Parts: sequence; structure tokens; C-alpha cells
Amino acid sequence: MERSFKNILVTGGAGFIGSNMIRYLLGEKIDFEGRVINLDLLTYAGNLENLSGVAEKAGKRYVFVKGDIRDKSLVEEVFEEFDVDSVIHFAAESHVDRSIVSPDAFITTNVIGTFNLLEAAKKAWEGKDNDILFHHISTDEVYGSLGPHGYFREDSPYDPHSPYSASKAASDHLVMAYHHTYGLPVTLSNCSNNYGPYQFPEKFIPLMILNMLEGKPLPIYGDGKNIRDWLYVEDHNIAVWLIMKKGILGQKYNIGGENEWENIKLVNKLIYIISCEAKKDPELLKKLIVFVKDRPGHDRRYAIDCGKIKRELGWRQTVEFEEGLRRTVRWYMEHMDWVNRVRSGEYMRWIELNYLKR
Ligand code: NAD
Ligand code: DAU
Repeated sequence: MERSFKNILVTGGAGFIGSNMIRYLLGEKIDFEGRVINLDLLTYAGNLENLSGVAEKAGKRYVFVKGDIRDKSLVEEVFEEFDVDSVIHFAAESHVDRSIVSPDAFITTNVIGTFNLLEAAKKAWEGKDNDILFHHISTDEVYGSLGPHGYFREDSPYDPHSPYSASKAASDHLVMAYHHTYGLPVTLSNCSNNYGPYQFPEKFIPLMILNMLEGKPLPIYGDGKNIRDWLYVEDHNIAVWLIMKKGILGQKYNIGGENEWENIKLVNKLIYIISCEAKKDPELLKKLIVFVKDRPGHDRRYAIDCGKIKRELGWRQTVEFEEGLRRTVRWYMEHMDWVNRVRSGEYMRWIELNYLKR
């Protein structure tokens, strides 16, 4: 039987994947008629513009609370005030390079913040067992790095290499511990690299798109042969909803694009797409490529085996890569106002710190 929810707490709903999830939950494509409570601190990565039009359209079905998941009493109040019966926990510090430069917020938000949410859920849901669920959003990076062969499966051992992935691994373990020890109804998903609209331009694909559009250098770490498995953000969210509805409690599900790309080959594909979409000379774009000092501890290859969610829940990727990239490129071309606004003073300081010293 499928679960049905009334009040879904989405943490980090003003970020890239969270905002796409909220649009999906409140849109026409799914069978959800309840309310979404978006709890977000609005860090540099969180932006209410990512949800423009949502509040107006959804009316009472959408509530925004500006707050920090590290604040235990606030988290408890949110559970109580909004009668939360399910959680989709996206809120996190999410950028690997930042975790190398300043790991503190990764530990406090990703580990302590998750702990606070689990505690609040345990307290609020005591005695209830029907249609309550804590879904934790995690990453394939917890599994570490692959050589040229093989895939991450749900039973692959955890071997995180960056402060970011170590903090996500710690939060995954806490989520599972709350299931095993206290019987908290949890599900967990580990997804590969997402791309699509509203992704903060510190990440690889939007950074490359914008630098190509603006004629700026395209910084490739190391030899450019690191491999990532790319998935369109909407396909991630479809998978999350399927797990929420039908996933087995206490289990984890890998979600991936089955779409592996070497970074340098992906940049060349983007050059081709941007030369068509933005009428740029591909030869001039190629000249913008610069190989820069590698990321410390740079994981070589990620690749997900997502056979379990396909077999058991009937999930499939729906957006083909070239189509997804074209949509994404067009979205950034049409939303340069958004780009200019999210590039705050903080963003400019980050770019200076991360690239000018390389
Ligand atoms: P993001 O950085 O775009 O958004 C994170 C959001 O969390 C922001 O809105 C931010 O304001 C909020 N936030 C941060 N600290 C907070 C705090 N202490 N309290 C409340 N809110 C806080 O991240 P994203 O790329 O959308 O990733 C979302 C989740 O998905 C993360 O848990 C990440 O680990 C996971 N994930 C991301 C990817 C990817 O490719 N981006 C892939 C797999 C898993
Ligand atoms: O795999 C899932 C993970 O994907 C998520 O858990 C993380 O939140 C998300 O940030 C992402 O991590 P990556 O480190 O894989 O993504 P990023 O966009 O930072 O980098 C992708 C690849 O591109 C990686 O091999 C590093 C490389 N890179 C990145 C940047 C920003 C460059 O070569 N140059 C760059 O300027």
C-alpha cells in the first residue's frame, strides 16, 4: 500500500534540488494534496527567488520558515506547530571545495542538524506509526572513489574522502541508527550528480555554462579525466517521491543517471551546445579551457548502480542528457537576472579564494 502524507517538512527547500522538489510536490504531476513546510536558513546557496510564484499559486498549501536546523528548539517547534508527518531532508552544506577550505559548517549543519531533525521526529511521532516518514537525501560520494570499472551499489562500503562526504556519511549512519534503535520510519537515497535549473553557479555545469556565455576561463581540475554520473534534477525528485510513497522502511536506494562523463568531455559537449544555442564560435570557446591545480583528494570516478530502484519501484530516468543540458543552458541564458543576484559579494569572494590562487 502507498503512504499518503498531510504535512511534509522539506528542509533546504530554497536550494537547488529542494526548490525543484517543492515545485514538483505542489505541481500538477503528482498525487499530493497536502501542505509543504519549507525550513531553510537561506545561506548563500538558498534563495527564495528559486520558488518565485510558488507561494502565490499554492496558497495555504505552502509555508516558509526561515530557520536553522542546528537550532534544536526551533526544529521541535516546527514539528509541533505544523503537525509534521513526514520529512524530506535536503538541507546541507553541499559544495566539496568549500568543505576543504572551511569544514566547520559541514559538520554542524550536516551532522548536528540531521541529529536535531531525527530527535524532533522521534519526539513528535512517539506512538504514531501510520504514514509518517523521514526521508534522508544523501549522495553517492559517501561510497568514495571508483577505478575504471565497477559501480556503487546499496551494499557498497562507505569510504568518504572529503569533509563534505564524511559529514554526509555521518548523517546517513545517524538516520539508519534511529531506525534500528528507535524504530523511526526512515528511508534514504544516495544520488549521483544533479544538474538543471536553479543550481548555484559554484557547481561544475552552471559554472562552465556561465563562463562560456561570458567569455571567461573554463577551469578544469587536474587532467580533466575525473568521471561523474549526471542526472537531471527532476528525475532525482521523481525517484524521491516514489521512495516516499512505496520504499521499504529502513532501506536505502541508489539513484543515478547511468550517464558517465569525463569532465573534459562534458565541457566539450557544453561547448557544442552553447555554440548552437548562444551562437558562439566553438573554437573560441575551446581556447577558454585552462587546466588548473587539482582538488585535494579529488575522487576519480563515481558511477551508480540504480538497478534496485528500477526493479523494485519502477523508476526510470526520463530526461535524455543532451535534452537536459539544452534545457539547462537555455534556462541560464533566460535567467541572467537571477544569476547576477545570486552572485553576491560572498560568491565573488569564493571565486577569488578558490580559483585565483590556483
Ligand atoms: P544547495 O547547496 O543548493 O542547497 C542547500 C540548501 O540548504 C540551501 O537552501 C541552504 O540555505 C539550506 N541550508 C544550509 N544550511 C542550513 C541550515 N543549517 N539550516 C537550514 N537550511 C540550511 O544543495 P543541493 O545541491 O540542492 O543539495 C541538496 C541535498 O542533496 C544535500 O543534502 C546534498 O548533499 C544532496 N545531494 C546533492 C547532489 C547534487 O548534485 N547537488 C547530489 C546528491 C545529493
Ligand atoms: O555526486 C554527488 C555530489 O555531486 C553531491 O553530493 C554534491 O553536493 C555536489 O556538489 C556534487 O559534487 P562534485 O564534487 O562531484 O561536483 P562539482 O560540481 O563540484 O564538480 C564536478 C566535477 O567537476 C568534479 O570532478 C570536480 C570538477 N570541477 C569542478 C569545479 C567546480 C572542475 O574541474 N572545475 C571546477 O571549477
